[in-house]
Amino acid sequence: MRLTILALTIAGATTALTPALADDIDGAIKARQGYYQIVKHNAGALFGMAKGDIDYDATKAKAHASNLEALANMTTSSMWPQGSSKADRPGITRALPVIWSTFPAIKDKHKAFADASATLASSAGDGLDKLRANIGALGASCKGCHETYRSKDF
Ligand code: HEC
Repeated sequence: MRLTILALTIAGATTALTPALADDIDGAIKARQGYYQIVKHNAGALFGMAKGDIDYDATKAKAHASNLEALANMTTSSMWPQGSSKADRPGITRALPVIWSTFPAIKDKHKAFADASATLASSAGDGLDKLRANIGALGASCKGCHETYRSKDF
């Protein structure tokens, strides 16, 4: 009897959960915004060191750049479901509908970010001059995507 109740409970929980997870558009939006907050945290430290606002530290610079490379290599497609643009979910996302209507064009912008991160991962720990030489491409990659695919407001 106990087992039957447990089995029924699990079966009920599974059917209730599966569609909820698959359709969790707001959760996907939160996840990608969290992803970019982690990107910003790591990129911000590198920008700060390059500008001289933060003391250059080779170990930290290399770690931040390696984190960016790892983030850039993550598979994030599940965070961009259909129906999650600013037009579908105004007020909670800045992702413009053009992302979906011109897909996969945005992938080129992501590639610029991935390439800049890979270059930094193999150079940011080799001195401030190396970091400074390669940081511009990273900043340009953020801007390059945002100006086309991210709205200024929610
Ligand atoms: C391939 C495109 C792309 C690249 C490259 C990119 N971003 Fe973004 N970013 C977006 C989009 C789209 C959003 C809006 C997400 C949303 O609101 O759903 C966003 C949002 C953000 C946010 C706000 C997250 C929040 O909490 O709402 C920050 C911060 C951010 N990006 C920082 C960066 C930085 C720093 C870089 C470069 C190191 C970068 N992004 C590179 C597309 C990109």
